[in-house]
Amino acid sequence: DTPHLVDRFGRVATDLRVSLIDKCNLRCTYCMPAEGLPWLKRAELLDTEEMNRLIRIAVEELGVTNVRFTGGEPLLRQDLVEIIGATAALPSRPKTSLTTNGINLGKFAEPLVAAGLDRVNVSLDTLDREVFQELTRRDRLDDVLDGLAAAKRMGLEPVKVNAVLMRDQNDHEAVDLLRFCVEHGYQLRFIEQMPLDAQHGWDRDRMITADEILERLGAEFELSPHEAERGSAPAERWLVDGGPATVGVIGSVTRPFCATCDRTRLTADGQLRNCLFSTTETDLRAPLRSGAEDAELVRLWQETMWSKAAGHGVDSEGFAQPSRPMSAIGG
Ligand code: GTP
Ligand code: 5AD
Ligand code: SF4
Repeated sequence: DTPHLVDRFGRVATDLRVSLIDKCNLRCTYCMPAEGLPWLKRAELLDTEEMNRLIRIAVEELGVTNVRFTGGEPLLRQDLVEIIGATAALPSRPKTSLTTNGINLGKFAEPLVAAGLDRVNVSLDTLDREVFQELTRRDRLDDVLDGLAAAKRMGLEPVKVNAVLMRDQNDHEAVDLLRFCVEHGYQLRFIEQMPLDAQHGWDRDRMITADEILERLGAEFELSPHEAERGSAPAERWLVDGGPATVGVIGSVTRPFCATCDRTRLTADGQLRNCLFSTTETDLRAPLRSGAEDAELVRLWQETMWSKAAGHGVDSEGFAQPSRPMSAIGG
């Protein structure tokens, strides 16, 4: 009987999100400044073997059943295919998924699937080349669209698309994005912007809310509640014009889902986080590098999750943004 990652509120973490690298090849304005960030140094990053060991411990000794790889941009990590291969081949056969900006997915979709990747979520905030360049500070829209097509061709279904709407930048594109995704068979989810950007520029009053997104879509499509059990999914989903296509909204701020949270997080430099918004981390890298046994790492992981807060409290008095930005946490 394996121990599990349980917290004081009875939630069980079965979903591990691993940030493999903090670097990115885009510079989304809502995420990081044009010049980038002070990236983690090579020696600070867990190497392939260290990553694989911690993932194995989570899956084989702590009851994790789903492993999602994130970044920064995870496709920038040279050993991504190797790590996914090692994860997918674990005796308990966890589900594996990837959250990527889609650049280079055209090239890597095939080896990733061969390595055992089950699913992919691709970020795409706009279909307009100029808006893409303004939002991401790079002219790579076509690469993202190629990546999406490759993912679908390789059978990585459902291919999910994540979109963040920014007021007066891409918020006029909600309907176009949904039409595009319905046509191509991608499952679109709109995400409320969260206070996790490196520049601390998030503004509650400018954020496009879930209600606003639904209102815009409702003007053009008939949305009806999706019957499927939501479970711990961050997205609330609707059938589009009777289905089978769906659209989701991840209302982290106005419709928080912390009560059903099943996540635990590992950063590229070997720090455990019990919440996207946690302000403390547990260092696994030091014990890992000084010869800790599995049992010690298991204990640290369980302790970390036990102290998970009930919710992120973004809307409560005294909320403090974590010092690590979204790009280094992995979303
Ligand atoms: P699936 O639903 O399993 O496909 O994945 P996901 O939506 O959890 O993962 P993805 O990396 O695509 O994340 C989409 C958005 O949801 C990102 O903006 C994440 O930051 C956000 N998100 C993911 N997990 C959490 C969470 O635990 N809490 C909050 N507040 N947001 C989350
Ligand atoms: N709030 C909400 N979503 C964000 N993302 C990046 N930064 C934020 C933020 N501050 C999105 C990315 C990507 C997903 C993993 O998270 O656009 O689609
Ligand atoms: Fe879970 Fe924290 Fe996200 Fe809430 S904010 S859903 S507790 S990770």
